[in-house]
Amino acid sequence: MTDDQGEMMRRRIVAANWKMNMTSDEAGAFINTIREGINGKEAEVHIIPPFVDIAVVKDALKGTDILVGAQNMYYEDKGAFTGEISADMLTCLGVHSVVIGHSERRNIFSEDDEMINLKVKKALEKGLVPILCCGESLDTREAGKVSEWINAQIESAFSGISAQDAVKCIIAYEPIWAIGTGKVATTDQAQEVCLLIREKIKELYGSETAEDIHILYGGSVKADNCKELFECPDIDGGLVGGASLKPEFVDIVNA
Ligand code: PGA
Repeated sequence: MTDDQGEMMRRRIVAANWKMNMTSDEAGAFINTIREGINGKEAEVHIIPPFVDIAVVKDALKGTDILVGAQNMYYEDKGAFTGEISADMLTCLGVHSVVIGHSERRNIFSEDDEMINLKVKKALEKGLVPILCCGESLDTREAGKVSEWINAQIESAFSGISAQDAVKCIIAYEPIWAIGTGKVATTDQAQEVCLLIREKIKELYGSETAEDIHILYGGSVKADNCKELFECPDIDGGLVGGASLKPEFVDIVNA
């Protein structure tokens, strides 16, 4: 896509992170209610249900251009890893993208930067689009250490990854204090960190990769605040949790 000046424009992306919500019955019924409202829109839409709902969601989305993602995966190909899901299992179901390093995975399930880097590498190797999450806690923000923290998360997640692969990733900036709390970052705060991420990518890979890579904002995105956020120059869309479980998600995609 190009704009009036013939410059390359990044596409808009809205991703629905359902987290641990929706049985497969509920998932199928919900997709049927929002399907027409979100299909064929300018934005690229990813529905990211729990693993066990993927097949049902895929089926309910047949005939649309809506993509299906997964919320996590393991970095080994196969073997004795009880309870884990491999990249091949996801691609076999037609999964397009995978969320990696969500703060809930980092904080509740103790995933560290090294593991997240291994997962990003494996996803890329298997042709999945990593949706890499980063974001600071309220303590880190109040200590004035946001840029230090975000730069370290990005550097570590992209360690050993080529520019050619890096540009395929989607980065989601999700301040932990804004997730599920109803406290949305101001557009200035969100834009500032998304720009900082783009600058870090430029430092690591050069300006072309930095211009082309997609950066989303996540954290209490709702129909009534998304437009302002999505208009920020360095925000290419949103990763939506709570509001993606409601019909309101259609309005967010349309914004
Ligand atoms: P939220 O979640 O929209 O419910 O704040 C966003 C996320 O965690 O991806």
